[in-house]
Amino acid sequence: MDTGYTVAQLRAAAADAVRAPSLHNTQPWRLRLRDGGIELSVDRTRRLPATDPSGWGARIACGAALFNLRLSLAVAGTPAKLRLRPYPAEPDVMARLVPDDAPRPPTPAERSLYAAIPRRFSNRAPFWPDPVPAEARWRLGEAARAEQCWLELVIGTTAVNAFAEIARSAHRVLERDPGYRHERAEWIRREPSPDGVPAAAGGPQSEPQDLLPMRGFGGRNRAPGRDFEPEPLVAVLGSAGNTTTDQILAGQALQRVLLTATDAGLSVSMLSQPIEVPGAREALRLSLGRFGTPQMVMRIGYGQPGVATPRRDIDDVLDLPVSVAPATGLPTPS
Ligand SMILES: Cc1cc2nc3c(=O)[nH]c(=O)nc-3n(C[C@H](O)[C@H](O)[C@H](O)COP(=O)(O)O)c2cc1C
Repeated sequence: MDTGYTVAQLRAAAADAVRAPSLHNTQPWRLRLRDGGIELSVDRTRRLPATDPSGWGARIACGAALFNLRLSLAVAGTPAKLRLRPYPAEPDVMARLVPDDAPRPPTPAERSLYAAIPRRFSNRAPFWPDPVPAEARWRLGEAARAEQCWLELVIGTTAVNAFAEIARSAHRVLERDPGYRHERAEWIRREPSPDGVPAAAGGPQSEPQDLLPMRGFGGRNRAPGRDFEPEPLVAVLGSAGNTTTDQILAGQALQRVLLTATDAGLSVSMLSQPIEVPGAREALRLSLGRFGTPQMVMRIGYGQPGVATPRRDIDDVLDLPVSVAPATGLPTPS
């Protein structure tokens, strides 16, 4: 195929890309069409300075959006060739996608993952105690490997307790920072809003007996007697290194794991406190005993139904070329 993508194709794929997860639902991405290619950039104005000083979280979110973008284009029959960080002089451009020379129909696996995009959401409520079957665990690991990352399941009471200790201490470190607390409070939404975390999605208030520290998003009080699952399945997603490119790869792998979980009927919530505190991240890496860098922690299980959180209108994330309408003199998207 020698023609590029069209604005209509960009708009359709962008609607899927923005369903990706992001820190506090900040949605730190922009999309545009340039020379027939769809380009995804990180939106620095939507990075969280206190929670995400290095920009790691924004790049993970962009990687996740990129995975949805690839999937969307493939399922539409116009799969993409991908280049990560295509312009050294424009470091905010995370990826450029051009139509593959050899179009092909989507695979059944792509169709299933694509169908999971609107069904996925962060489920912060307690899960049922039922264990995640071995076949599903294997699929989650394969999803990470398919995107050049790894997924380590934290198995056994001793290992889960050791992880919980690291996570709780990271949580305490973060909670001592007024800037971090202020930022989180600012992104909790009690009225309908196109971004931020709706209080209803924030999960229940934490209780002293909780094993894992949940980031508090102003959630509802816990139903009496309702505790979190006693043996959570904790999974750590990691990449080979920790460059910007590694983080974009990890974001893609994260989204592939999340969609694979959704497709398998599983719920997931993310816990990134032990990633955000450098000492905790290193302790986590050492506890796993493997090379590479942990990039995200997930709690996986069977959850109750919930709803997807809102997103900004795609017109707010697209940079379309503008031309001037002759009749009005007003700029119009071309
Ligand atoms: C890099 C990153 C870190 C995150 N960290 C947490 C976390 O520590 N706790 C949490 O409850 N959710 C976390 N999330 C989930 C976001 O809050 C969530 O994706 C966002 O609010 C949008 O909601 P959705 O996932 O339901 O679409 C994280 C997401 C990303 C991409």
